[in-house]
Amino acid sequence: QATTDVDLSKIAPGQAIKTIFRKQPLFVRNLTPAEIAEADAVPVSSLRDPQTLEQRTKPGKKNWLITLGVCTHLGCVPLGAGEGENRGPFGGYFCPCHGSAYDTAARIRQGPAPLNLHVPDYTFTSDTTVKVG
Ligand code: FES
Repeated sequence: QATTDVDLSKIAPGQAIKTIFRKQPLFVRNLTPAEIAEADAVPVSSLRDPQTLEQRTKPGKKNWLITLGVCTHLGCVPLGAGEGENRGPFGGYFCPCHGSAYDTAARIRQGPAPLNLHVPDYTFTSDTTVKVG
């Protein structure tokens, strides 16, 4: 199926869930104010794949970080979108295959991956629902 609807109403601040979009893992994360501040504090010019958190989220919805759960190195599924999973040294996601570490905006910060986790096309269809794809 071409699009996936995600119910955001049960994703608490600080929580990330893993679902499926076009047969690929999709991470949906509700960032805490501290995680947003952490992402905003990073000088964009220091990043391997320079993007702000604003550029990776929707206006007024900066806490909703929606990305593919596919490491941009060789495609493993990073950890961090389940209970008790290792979010790595930058607090976002951590790929156990070769040690790529992503930050709270899912931007690559350490390890071999060349790019940030991909943000798919999506739209908010209500305050608590997004349509991905
Ligand atoms: Fe993720 Fe290699 S596939 S670090």
